[in-house]
Amino acid sequence: MEIVILPDSAAIGSLGADAITNLLQRKPHAVLGLATGSSPLAIYDELTARCSTGTVSFANASGFTLDEYVGLPADHPESYRNVINKDFVSRVDFVPGAVHGPDGRAEDIPAACAAYEAAIAAAGGVDLQILGIGTDGHIGFNEPGSSLASRTRIKTLTTQTRIDNARFFDGDLDAVPTHCLTQGLATILAARHVVLVAIGSGKAEAVHHLVEGAVSALWPATILQHHPHVTVLLDSAAASRLQLADYYRETYRAKPAWQGI
Ligand code: F6R
Repeated sequence: MEIVILPDSAAIGSLGADAITNLLQRKPHAVLGLATGSSPLAIYDELTARCSTGTVSFANASGFTLDEYVGLPADHPESYRNVINKDFVSRVDFVPGAVHGPDGRAEDIPAACAAYEAAIAAAGGVDLQILGIGTDGHIGFNEPGSSLASRTRIKTLTTQTRIDNARFFDGDLDAVPTHCLTQGLATILAARHVVLVAIGSGKAEAVHHLVEGAVSALWPATILQHHPHVTVLLDSAAASRLQLADYYRETYRAKPAWQGI
C-alpha cells in the first residue's frame, strides 16, 4: 500500500487525476470504478479541466459506480446515478450509456446484483477504482461486519453512515434511505489498481485502521491490505493518527519520478 500525504485537496485532485490520465493514455478503453461522495470531487474537477483542454479523453472509456440507494425515485437528485452524472460524467466526454450503476429500483434485487457483477466481468474488470472511506471504515457501502469475500448485494446502512449522509438530504436523517446496493469487498478487490482518498480529521481513525490496523470485518477497508496495488491519498488531518506518517512522507519524497502513480 502506498501512502501519500499531501497538503490539500487540490494536490490530492491533481495526483488522483494523474493516475487516471496516465491509465487512459496507455489504455483508452479503460474501465473506471467511480465513487460518489465528497472525497473524489477534487479528482473529478481536475479531470474535467483536463478534458476541456484535451489532455485526457473518456470517449472510449467506461465506468461502474460503487453503489446505489435502494428505493429512491429515478429522478431523485441524491440517487448515486444522478450524483455521479452531475459531479463527473456529464462534465466530460463519456459516450451516453458508458457509465453503469447498480439498479436500486429493481424488483428482483439478487438478480440485479448478479447482473451488475456480470456486466463488470463482461467489460473486462475494473482497471482503476476510485474509493472514499466512511468514518466507520466502510468502502462502497460495505459496512462493519461485511463479509470480506462479499460480492454486489443489498446492505443495511448503519445509523452513523445515515447521519454522515444526512448533509446531502437537507440534514433530514429520515430522508436518508436505510438500504443500498453495493459492490462487495471481493468485487472491489478485483480492481487492478485502487486509489483511495480520505480528507479531514473525521476520517483519521478509519485511515489508521485501513493502513496500520488488523484486517477485520469490523473495519472493512482493511481488506485492502491484501490488494497488491493500492494508493492512499490523504491530507494531513486524515493522516493525523498514522503511527508511521514520517516514514510514509520520507518514502514518497524519495520516490523516483519514473515510478509514476
Ligand atoms: C460512495 C461510497 C462511500 C463513500 C464514503 C465517503 O459511493 O461508496 O463509501 O466513499 O461514504 O463519503 P465522502 O467522500 O462523502 O466522505
